[in-house]
Amino acid sequence: MSNLTWLEPADDDTVAETLDQSFRRRFGVAPDGVWAAPGRVNLIGEHTDYNGGFALPLALPHRTYAAVRVRGDGVLRIASAQQPSSWQGRVEEVGPGRPEGWPAYVAGVVWALGDRLPDGLGLDVLVDGHVPLGAGLSSSAALSCSVGVAVRDLVRGLAGLSDADLAAACVRAENEVAGAATGGMDQTVSLRAVDEHLLLIDAREHSVLPVAWTLPGHEVLVVDTRAHHSLADGQYAARRHACESAATALGVGSLRELDPGRLEDADVRRALADVPDGMARVRHVVTENGRVLDLVGALQEQDAVLVGSLMTGSHESLRDDYEVSCRELDVAVTAALGAGALGARMTGGGFGGSAIALVDREDVELVAGAVAEAFADEGLTEPHFLEAAPSRPAGRLGPRPTG
Ligand code: GLA
Repeated sequence: MSNLTWLEPADDDTVAETLDQSFRRRFGVAPDGVWAAPGRVNLIGEHTDYNGGFALPLALPHRTYAAVRVRGDGVLRIASAQQPSSWQGRVEEVGPGRPEGWPAYVAGVVWALGDRLPDGLGLDVLVDGHVPLGAGLSSSAALSCSVGVAVRDLVRGLAGLSDADLAAACVRAENEVAGAATGGMDQTVSLRAVDEHLLLIDAREHSVLPVAWTLPGHEVLVVDTRAHHSLADGQYAARRHACESAATALGVGSLRELDPGRLEDADVRRALADVPDGMARVRHVVTENGRVLDLVGALQEQDAVLVGSLMTGSHESLRDDYEVSCRELDVAVTAALGAGALGARMTGGGFGGSAIALVDREDVELVAGAVAEAFADEGLTEPHFLEAAPSRPAGRLGPRPTG
């Protein structure tokens, strides 16, 4: 069992100290501070956020760290402890598609905050990511949010910027500068999470509600399938587009508005006849919203069996109706359930990335071992594992400015 690979969160103090030193070496000055923002796991409510619906993610203890220093000359210097590439340019040069790659998630935040920033504001940024990359655990939102909270803390005029407005700026950075059509769940939980809670997000109202984890005997086991997950490819945008076409065909502002009881109505079927796969896509979104609210109820009742079956129902809907699963995710889900998990599902955008399983605390190693064995039997790359303990939102770590 012990030969499984567990991805542990980094120690904040150790990372802050190392990053401070690396920043001084690279840029020749001290940073103004170090900030961190978490990745996330979504317990349920997938592909609902861009349909004005509900999601129930939690912030992971795995975080992306950013050492940041404000400059007064409009220059941006962006570097990473992991990535060989870096970027340097002027704030005016940033825009849709510029810069490309990971620096877009940093520069894009400055761009999105735009006219709220003082003239001549520039930044030196050194990031250190401890959210597994490409695992569907929102390493990109953690990156933009770590820089977002830093800029808000450092720029006097931004002190009153709400978490919701900062999340919206981070979404614009990803949508418009990085070109990833994300819906807002990841940035919202990274900035607005409440320690030791899940976060019920209502995407239409932009509101959040902390939900207590009432199953102390159970854990959320995360399986990073290591099948590459990327939102920048066309499938995510295609699903989003299909939902928008379906909403237009149905005459509703978003699929959130469609009453579940109407799914079987003849006029709904007729309206969706010309939207490719429209009926199946809509059925996923509408039933998934229902499952989120039911799961919140099941948590209040401490009904672990119902929580698990709602999770598994979500997976089946994502696999069969929304068609965003893949072989690795299905193998992980089947193996976890076979080894006694109460429920299991893919989490995040899909097409690779991670699956989660609701597991009795005592069975965590057993279920992880069964998943690893199933991957080996299927000739798949060895999966990695994480434990999803609900953690705190983005914020400052220090050190304090040394002048
Ligand atoms: C990705 C996006 C989110 C959300 C999920 C699917 O993680 O970034 O906004 O749409 O996919 O639920």
